[in-house]
Amino acid sequence: MKVIETHNLTKRFDRLIAVNKINLSIKEGEIFGLLGPNGAGKTTTLSMLATLLPPTSGRAYVNGFDVVNDASKVRHSIGFVFQDPSSDDLLTGRENLYLHALMYGVDMRNINKRMDEVLKLVDLTERQNERMKKYSGGMRRRLELARGLLHDPRVLFLDEPTLGLDPQTRQHLWTYIRRLADEKKVTVIITTHYMDEADQLCDRIAVIDHGKIAAMGKPEDLKKRLGGDVVRIKSKKPNVAAVKKLRYVKNVKHNDGMVTMTVDNSAKHLQEILKKIGNVESVETRSPTLNDLFLHLTGSEIRDEEGEGGYFERMMASNRGNR
Ligand SMILES: Nc1ncnc2c1ncn2[C@@H]1O[C@H](COP(=O)(O)OP(=O)(O)OP(=O)(O)O)[C@@H](O)[C@H]1O
Ligand SMILES: [Mg+2]
Repeated sequence: MKVIETHNLTKRFDRLIAVNKINLSIKEGEIFGLLGPNGAGKTTTLSMLATLLPPTSGRAYVNGFDVVNDASKVRHSIGFVFQDPSSDDLLTGRENLYLHALMYGVDMRNINKRMDEVLKLVDLTERQNERMKKYSGGMRRRLELARGLLHDPRVLFLDEPTLGLDPQTRQHLWTYIRRLADEKKVTVIITTHYMDEADQLCDRIAVIDHGKIAAMGKPEDLKKRLGGDVVRIKSKKPNVAAVKKLRYVKNVKHNDGMVTMTVDNSAKHLQEILKKIGNVESVETRSPTLNDLFLHLTGSEIRDEEGEGGYFERMMASNRGNR
């Protein structure tokens, strides 16, 4: 059975189409990533699946329940960790869990045992009786994850759960998420800006841009789509036109003396490329990453028209604002 299924799922806000006819089919125990720039429609998609926003058109099923007609059944079978943290700083970690359980109708008969379990899962047993205001960013995220897991959901929605965390804590969190999917067969839908996260954690990803799915598949298959190696050449005065003519070169992008391209069999052709481009200052060759795919699909040029630098610059700026 498919745990998540959508048919032309669409959300409009007045004239803006935030999510545009999205079709997803996600199976039990899968970790599925939604990857896309700011405003792509990731949170809106998740919100509709979690019954927090009604779709404008199209359909969505979670655990076999319709998100519109069976919203309360959907809600009881899911857990979510959303972008805005909502814990109370004056309460302890454990008290926050208890409060959440009361508010969200979690079965209270075994609540103490259940809280012990989830606290252990996110390694907060030792710190559970401290007030949240003493928690670090990473500990807060872990508590939010624990909260989302309290009622043993079959599906977990995570909206940028690792935003602003240090690499070690992120890695740690991935381990919990992976364990949930593998051992408990929990289906996880996660949104992220981090390419390495999508690459290492997700079984499948959908790249979403302007509310549409630009590509979907296993990370390794998507990377293969680019074909060849990524070559980056720095040159004071690059002859970009000459390089574009080479038949084994694809996806040529030029930005301020930095020329990026994908090259079939770069070892064989690099010499010729360097000769054509001229005035070479440095060269870098590597295997494609999801980031390359991302730039390829969503196109840095489109963003540049907005006149505020590249995707990553804005990403960094928005991350800073978020913490
Ligand atoms: N309640 C709302 N009313 C009007 N427009 C909205 C609303 N919520 C989202 N939008 C718009 O819908 C689009 C998609 O927003 P969404 O929050 O889904 O993006 P996102 O992919 O989650 O972005 P981010 O990476 O910044 O979190 C954006 O253009 C946003 O401004
Ligand atoms: Mg979002």
